[in-house]
Amino acid sequence: MTKWNFNTQAIHNEQEPDAQTGAVSQPIVPAVAYSFDTAEDAVAVVNGEAEGVYYGRYGNPTSRKLELKVASLEGSEDALAVSSGMAAISIGLMNFLSQGDHVVVTKDVYGGTHKFLSTIAPRYGIEYDYVDCTDASEVEKAIQPNTRAVYIESPSNPSLTLIDIEAVAKVAKSHNIPLIVDNTFMTPYLQRPLELGADVVVHSATKYLNGHGDVVAGIVCANEDVIANMRKNVMGDLGQHISAWDAFLILRGIKTLGIRVKQHCRNALKIAEFLEKHPVVEKVNYPGLASHPQHDLAVRQMDDMGGIVSFEIKGGVEAGKKFISSLDIAMISFSLGDPETLVQHPASMTHASIPEEELHKFGISTGLIRLSAGLEDVQDIINDLDQALSNVGEKVQM
Ligand SMILES: Cc1ncc(COP(=O)(O)O)c(C=O)c1O
Repeated sequence: MTKWNFNTQAIHNEQEPDAQTGAVSQPIVPAVAYSFDTAEDAVAVVNGEAEGVYYGRYGNPTSRKLELKVASLEGSEDALAVSSGMAAISIGLMNFLSQGDHVVVTKDVYGGTHKFLSTIAPRYGIEYDYVDCTDASEVEKAIQPNTRAVYIESPSNPSLTLIDIEAVAKVAKSHNIPLIVDNTFMTPYLQRPLELGADVVVHSATKYLNGHGDVVAGIVCANEDVIANMRKNVMGDLGQHISAWDAFLILRGIKTLGIRVKQHCRNALKIAEFLEKHPVVEKVNYPGLASHPQHDLAVRQMDDMGGIVSFEIKGGVEAGKKFISSLDIAMISFSLGDPETLVQHPASMTHASIPEEELHKFGISTGLIRLSAGLEDVQDIINDLDQALSNVGEKVQM
């Protein structure tokens, strides 16, 4: 049988009508306890020798459906659905790292991952180095005898820097070290890191996978034995499971993943093109623009360019604050990947405590804005950006 195309897979993979009721949409099974005919049957499920669920902290039938669905889209043997993107990231890292181990991490990694590595991980004797992973030879140089994982995300948040996943995977493989990739910004619709040689994919399902801004969740995709260990010896013990209700909502969201992400990409490109021509805008970071320094890699590695655009407006922190406060449709928010256009100004929000002269270390300038293109009619978003930029423009010398 020929493999279905993405939208067909997103709807039909791992989904059949409910055996008892014929219900087409996924039933929600919130049960914590599951019964078995014999003690042997129970032990076989607990030991992973038979498929099934046995206790709510290790998963439930609804989260299992979600795991199988995402695994089928990412092309992994198995997956683990968890309570947040940070749960997926911490499980991914803790599965491979013990006291005395070292991890190579891309230097502009998501802030929460940075915080986990710089605060929690050292308390358990785990070492890390932030490395410029845009150059695979830097990854090679950073690997030490105790390195047990390489961790990257591409494109990065918020500077939209790309990493050549295939090149970094080759380096990791030559040292027998697993490569973990955060694929949140892309989703399997746009980028499948496992096909490029990565070993583990992590997602914040809070973003595009669910896509409606009403669930916090995460997913890890990897080989069966890796997922079995994560489920039994990390997630279950730390209690990072997902609820059946949240799993249901993400399964529902995934049915429209392809069409949503396609529209996010279309809107983002039009917004990026508009911003690039605007006199108040100093610079636009969007992989889909020919001006992006890694545009060729983007075309090679990604099926489309994603829904996130970041840009620098002239006038520094005050201009940034004034701009986001002047928007009518786009909302000031810390999240992304929702139907609503969302904006963030790192210098006055997430990174406000960092002195201006040190912001550049985080790849952030004082006027940098991150925009998550929503699903509104793009001309309305552009009109909104235009009026807010004119507001700033009055104050900025152009
Ligand atoms: C790239 C990326 N990875 C991971 C996370 C963490 O996800 P969550 O908030 O679901 O824990 C985020 C959140 O913004 C993110 O942007």
